Amino acid sequence: MNYDKTNMPAAYDAGRGYSPGVLAYWLEVIAQSVSRGSVSEILDLGCGTGRYSNALADFYDANLIAIDPSEKMLAEARRKASSRVRCERASAESLPLPNASVDMAFISMAFHHFEHPDRAVAECRRVLRPDGSVCLRAGTIDRIDSYAYVDFFPGSRPILHRALQSQAFIESTFTGAGFKLVRHELIPSEAAENWIAYAEKLAYRADSILVQLSDREFDQGLAALREHAKTTPPNAPVVEPVDFFVFRPV
Ligand SMILES: C[S@@+](CC[C@H](N)C(=O)[O-])C[C@H]1O[C@@H](n2cnc3c(N)ncnc32)[C@H](O)[C@@H]1O
Repeated sequence: MNYDKTNMPAAYDAGRGYSPGVLAYWLEVIAQSVSRGSVSEILDLGCGTGRYSNALADFYDANLIAIDPSEKMLAEARRKASSRVRCERASAESLPLPNASVDMAFISMAFHHFEHPDRAVAECRRVLRPDGSVCLRAGTIDRIDSYAYVDFFPGSRPILHRALQSQAFIESTFTGAGFKLVRHELIPSEAAENWIAYAEKLAYRADSILVQLSDREFDQGLAALREHAKTTPPNAPVVEPVDFFVFRPV
């Protein structure tokens, strides 16, 4: 999907932003596989608005190159980038980086957007140092029934089936290109602190699946979700599983 042709870049941080606690939680999840001190150059591939970029650079005390083909998403990332973060417009399929130049390639919610995942993986293999890691967060077809909004937006189900990849596809794309899988885990991740906050985040429609629904279908789903939210306790967070993979060069 070409994010520049949507309203998502301006809405992304409001609709998909993290609380500091959720961001810290994810950094700890990543650190279980890639220890601090082992990383000096990070690639944030499909960085979007840089939801992770500064945090990863700070946490690992590393330089980070943030890459995305969307000028508008990258403009948001650039606006926030710390001195250790360099933003560059490029696609995963053709990385403007030398061979063996990064210790970690981080890919969050972007792999299913890559037009040629096999080429993107080959590029990751090329730019990664021999002891480097790819850390990948993704939604997958296997988990569609667990995603919180699906029952409220029934039309999202076939779109998710078309847009997402399976866990098996992601694993085989990497293992077929010179990587080994060292970790796959379903990480429970807080999408919002409660259902009311969740509905208000979704209202920004900063989601590549929800933007494909008709306005009518989206409005109906959001109204149903808001009604449901009224019946839920304010201290019940909305939690969804995120597929988290770590691959290393063979
Ligand atoms: C859902 S956003 C995720 C952004 C960020 N990684 C995050 O977790 O917030 C998906 C991003 O993938 C980018 N993208 C799409 N096609 C791409 C490609 N071929 N190479 C790299 N990034 C791509 C989009 O422009 C968009 O910014």
